[in-house]
Amino acid sequence: MEKEKFLELKNMEAGYNETKILHDVSLFINEGEIVALMGPNGAGKSTILKAIFGLIPHTGNIFYEGEKIHPAPDRLVKMGIAFVPQGRRVFNNLTVEENLEIGGFFLNDKTECSRRVEHLFHLFPMLHEKRREYAGSLSGGQQQLLSIARGLMTQPKLLLLDEPTLGLAPKVVKEIFQMIKTINKNHKTAIMVVEHNLHSLLPITHRAYVLAHGKIVASDTGPVIAQSDILERVFMGKI
Ligand SMILES: Nc1ncnc2c1ncn2[C@@H]1O[C@H](COP(=O)(O)OP(=O)(O)O)[C@@H](O)[C@H]1O
Ligand SMILES: [Mg+2]
Repeated sequence: MEKEKFLELKNMEAGYNETKILHDVSLFINEGEIVALMGPNGAGKSTILKAIFGLIPHTGNIFYEGEKIHPAPDRLVKMGIAFVPQGRRVFNNLTVEENLEIGGFFLNDKTECSRRVEHLFHLFPMLHEKRREYAGSLSGGQQQLLSIARGLMTQPKLLLLDEPTLGLAPKVVKEIFQMIKTINKNHKTAIMVVEHNLHSLLPITHRAYVLAHGKIVASDTGPVIAQSDILERVFMGKI
């Protein structure tokens, strides 16, 4: 029997107002997988994540653990999906610890919230060290770690990550990838990640989809994509 796909999009179309951006997008992610979405600027990568999370309307079908869903952010969080959008959105005037607590507000349970914060401090010691510092005083990389950690407060089974390393120095990029690996390994969290840092990402991904002009033009395992010329052709605008 075919393994049930964890999250699956079938023939999805989505866009903004009258403009259709995504054309017949079908893709899936299995439990515990790291799947990359790649492609040039404007290809529609963020649009896919926004449609999955219910931030923009779509046509076509989205299945979660085999059941068709009608996404809306609050429902998705309850179902175990978290979204960390592009651009390291942290609350500058709150401390690191308070930023994490906000990620757990929906719990309505102070003890459980603190337990999760402590767990994240254990996983990511840098956040523990800076727990009383204002998020606004952190470096870009530290803010990114914090915004991902805040997404983890819901203990998601699937994490949607949009461009986590954008604008970060190479050393920090490494730390973010280490963090992604840790999350995936420790909790078997499935991670769908949009990333332009192909060489750092492909070795840790199970599969990758390549997008151009709102369509999926290739999908394969990380190493196969890395060795093919598809990315080069897509980024050169030949597709
Ligand atoms: N809020 C929006 N309103 C209108 N058009 C948008 C909006 N966001 C993105 N777009 C357009 O949708 C296309 C895909 O954008 P996006 O999904 O952000 O691409 P990517 O994440 O691959 O760089 C682009 O042409 C972009 O200009
Ligand atoms: Mg984007």
